[in-house]
Amino acid sequence: MNKIAITGKGGVGKTTLSSLLAYLYQEAGYNVLAVDADPASGLSNALGFPPELVAAIEPVSEMDELIFERTGAQPGTVGGFFKLNPKVDDIPDRFSATYRDIRLLRMGTIKIGGTGCLCPENALLKALTTHLFMRRNEVLILDMEAGVEHLGRATAQSVDAMIIVVEPGRRSVGVMEEIRRLANDIGLRRLYLVGNKVRGESDQAFIRQIAEDLPVIGFLPYDPQVIEADLTGQAVYDIAPETVAAAREIWGKLSA
Ligand SMILES: Nc1ncnc2c1ncn2[C@@H]1O[C@H](COP(=O)(O)OP(=O)(O)O)[C@@H](O)[C@H]1O
Ligand SMILES: [Mg+2]
Repeated sequence: MNKIAITGKGGVGKTTLSSLLAYLYQEAGYNVLAVDADPASGLSNALGFPPELVAAIEPVSEMDELIFERTGAQPGTVGGFFKLNPKVDDIPDRFSATYRDIRLLRMGTIKIGGTGCLCPENALLKALTTHLFMRRNEVLILDMEAGVEHLGRATAQSVDAMIIVVEPGRRSVGVMEEIRRLANDIGLRRLYLVGNKVRGESDQAFIRQIAEDLPVIGFLPYDPQVIEADLTGQAVYDIAPETVAAAREIWGKLSA
């Protein structure tokens, strides 16, 4: 089984890669659960979900009644008593939508910093993430923010691959290093890099150089068709054959 988390700086292509891996696993006959855990993500769009279907999926972090029902505390309250192991096993099936055999769940944001980690909505999201990685037996594609907030020590062992997406440029390096440090803190070992928006040999060389000892499992080309998909609301998988071919090589390494 493949449980994959995708992270990296905003705008590097996490959502693009997530959508492609979801379709490649689906195409190979796997059951796929794609999870949008980045508030700025739009994974549903990259997957080509029809807008009315997207509108029907509410992010779990915004389901106040559910959070209260499951944790025993009102969202937004801090430091009070609430269940740290709320029931979550019915959530993926009940609150997701399926399009072309890809199930999509919108997680919403974990609030980080300050007292944020002590509130009930975070307890629910963490329990849900642990459940997705450890109890469900389908391919999991978790499209994350630049961090590991949803993950914890318990989950780290169950992550088959955490892919950090980088693009040619110094700015994605700092974020990559920070993610690496956080991953190391929770004992997450299977880290890989994918270089995106690559325009040629020198971009590839740049990425290999910043990767140091992190394995680079592939590159996606800079591809105007990816932008076109975003503009027209089509699935990247449907209209960007060059990028799909490159993603297929990455997929081959992950599923080998
Ligand atoms: N390989 C690529 N070639 C050209 N544009 C890309 C490529 N990958 C992503 N983009 C564009 O970059 C922007 C950010 O991509 P996205 O996948 O949403 O990044 P993230 O999820 O990391 O924020 C989008 O407008 C997308 O169309
Ligand atoms: Mg995104």
